[in-house]
Amino acid sequence: MRIIITDSYEKMGLEAANIVAGQVYLKPDSVLGLATGSTPVSMYQRLAAVHKTVGLDFSEVTTFNLDEYIGMSPDNPQSYHYFMQENFFKHINIRPENVYLPNGMAEDMIAEGERYEKLIAAKGGIDLQVLGIGQNAHIGFNEPDVKFAATTHKVELDEETIQANSRFFASASEVPRYAISMGIKTIMMAEHVILLANGKNKAKAVYKAVCGDVTPEAPASILQLHRDVAVIVDEAAASLL
Ligand code: GLP
Repeated sequence: MRIIITDSYEKMGLEAANIVAGQVYLKPDSVLGLATGSTPVSMYQRLAAVHKTVGLDFSEVTTFNLDEYIGMSPDNPQSYHYFMQENFFKHINIRPENVYLPNGMAEDMIAEGERYEKLIAAKGGIDLQVLGIGQNAHIGFNEPDVKFAATTHKVELDEETIQANSRFFASASEVPRYAISMGIKTIMMAEHVILLANGKNKAKAVYKAVCGDVTPEAPASILQLHRDVAVIVDEAAASLL
């Protein structure tokens, strides 16, 4: 693991954006795995700026997002489809047909998981996966105890995750209880991975990911076994390292 510690949230986003931009520059038809949440927003802003100023070209890029809430339609402002559109896709020249997220409205989540995995495989796999981390060290929506072998599947969210994500909703009771998420195995199959975290509330999770035992109790700890991971964190998130 390479650990990059920055002195601000903006610089965390800048470091991450540089890695993504470098990937796209060298391989214009890259397949990117993308994350939602507050953490990667500064990275998306920076990438949008690089697209605008120097014309970083996303026209051949394909993206696969990590997860989506179950029961959330793409036009719902709280859906991850909507989040990606607003925070990233509408600011760059990506083609809508090259953008993929799990379908939270699918009738059969097992079939949807299989469909999603096949699509990723058909595109040649993920070149670079961007990850945030939950306070309980989840990645995607792989909560503690999820089997390391899982591919895209339906998950029941932990109470801690529901509370953490309730800030995006009117109340905790409105947060969906289920999501569909790439599994740990899907994430581990990516060629390169960057894990982003900022803020003191992520310090414990970052410690578990980087220094803790490799255990499904701390899903991000599996990244210690990946051959190319950069952990990009601000000083607060790195405070226990
Ligand atoms: C969410 C998402 C994750 C994200 C994490 C942290 O529940 N499913 O992909 O990394 O929690 O979110 P945030 O960046 O808002 O702290």
